[in-house]
Amino acid sequence: MIETENISKTYRLGETKVRALRKVSLHIDDGEMVAIIGPSGSGKSTLLAILGCLDVPSKGIYRIDGQEVMSMNERQLAAIRRKKIGFVFQQFNLLPRTSALENVMLPLYYCGISQRLRRTRAMEALERVGLADRYRSHPSQLSGGEQQRVAIARALVNEPAILLADEPTGNLDTHKGAEIVSIFQRLNQEAGQTVVYVTHDPFIARHTRRIISIQDGRIVRDEPVEHPLVAGTPRPDDILHEVSIDPVEDEEETEA
Ligand SMILES: Nc1ncnc2c1ncn2[C@@H]1O[C@H](COP(=O)(O)OP(=O)(O)OP(=O)(O)O)[C@@H](O)[C@H]1O
Ligand SMILES: [Mg+2]
Repeated sequence: MIETENISKTYRLGETKVRALRKVSLHIDDGEMVAIIGPSGSGKSTLLAILGCLDVPSKGIYRIDGQEVMSMNERQLAAIRRKKIGFVFQQFNLLPRTSALENVMLPLYYCGISQRLRRTRAMEALERVGLADRYRSHPSQLSGGEQQRVAIARALVNEPAILLADEPTGNLDTHKGAEIVSIFQRLNQEAGQTVVYVTHDPFIARHTRRIISIQDGRIVRDEPVEHPLVAGTPRPDDILHEVSIDPVEDEEETEA
């Protein structure tokens, strides 16, 4: 279970302070499927990075399965990331001159298992995202959607309880986005994995069972989705441009 209590994150840029998160409290139970939505600069990536133990809050408490994350040392944090969390970055973060298979094998290097088992497990993860036949391809030989699937396979290969993804469909067209969403839905339903993804797209968000909206670093809405959409449902035009991108103040515009 994921639990935050009044977490805040403030970045300091010289004289100015950017308050990226303000007293965010949330609970996400095991096996939930959640979308975090909000305008650009609202704090979505900051929140996800904290949930993924890639960053720490400036204030507040964060617990995973009852364990307080802030009190852990680097080694304990690395262990949590390795055992419990799979993280899919928006820019994929794949190693360029390395095959899909080797990219997926990478997280297993630190797990003390044989080369042969690493290979088997990485192939299984590639199969789960429908890319087993492309295991030799380098990222540059794969489409955006395929690279995204390699990134998902890499996040899955440790069989983490929690899968976090930052704008996993952000760079993809509707059809490829639907493939990604359907992978997440399957992992959630069949493997019981907790899935949390960030999106700015309300249509993509409606494929989950809960939508958390953030604005200006705060949770402004947290609502269940009565009838989550099945991946592949055509996108109705009327919700295409539903989310307005709020302008952020100049000093807050510097993106990491
Ligand atoms: N390393 C950093 N240093 C300073 N400010 C930062 C840093 N990272 C993020 N910010 C600021 O914190 C705020 C929240 O950023 P964040 O990346 O979480 O937004 P976001 O909701 O993910 O936006 P987007 O939809 O554009 O990805 C923004 O104002 C951003 O400029
Ligand atoms: Mg972001």
